[in-house]
Amino acid sequence: MLRNKDIIDEKDKRLRLVSKEVTFPLTKEDKKNIDLMMEYLTNSQIEPLAKKYDLRPGMGLSAIQLGIDKRYIVIVHEVDEEVFDNYILINPKIISNSLEKIYVEMGEGCLSVNREVEGIVPRYARVTVEGYDMDGNLIRVRAREELAIAFQHEIDHLNGILFIDHIDPKHPFQGKDEYRAI
Ligand code: NI
Repeated sequence: MLRNKDIIDEKDKRLRLVSKEVTFPLTKEDKKNIDLMMEYLTNSQIEPLAKKYDLRPGMGLSAIQLGIDKRYIVIVHEVDEEVFDNYILINPKIISNSLEKIYVEMGEGCLSVNREVEGIVPRYARVTVEGYDMDGNLIRVRAREELAIAFQHEIDHLNGILFIDHIDPKHPFQGKDEYRAI
């Protein structure tokens, strides 16, 4: 089982790597990691379990956050109370996006950024993401709002980008009137 300490922190330079394309079949290790990421994200969003294991709540992880520079991500999206939609994408790519941009009003968060960072991170309100499932089948996901942000955030990780990079420290709330808050 993964714990907070297994997720690398922004000070770790590996988070700046551009992760490598994955080839199929997946290794046993990658399958195991995907299971662990899924388990962490699910447990972290179930309050008694999060408390019990001291897990920071999060809805997405990329492999590089475990120190593995391979292009895969896991998202666990709570659609109703303790009801989750799970997404596992290997070699994910955004193939189209809305013109409209949104941002998380409370501020975006990341399991690798263990501090409060204020500011606006503009994201597309809707994206279509293409990637592969664990068996190597091509899949396509249409995401909007919070889920669309999660995909953009995790795909950024695969390119060595953190959400804080999108915030200008001198003008953290730039774009407030231009983009829609969610
Ligand atoms: Ni993150």
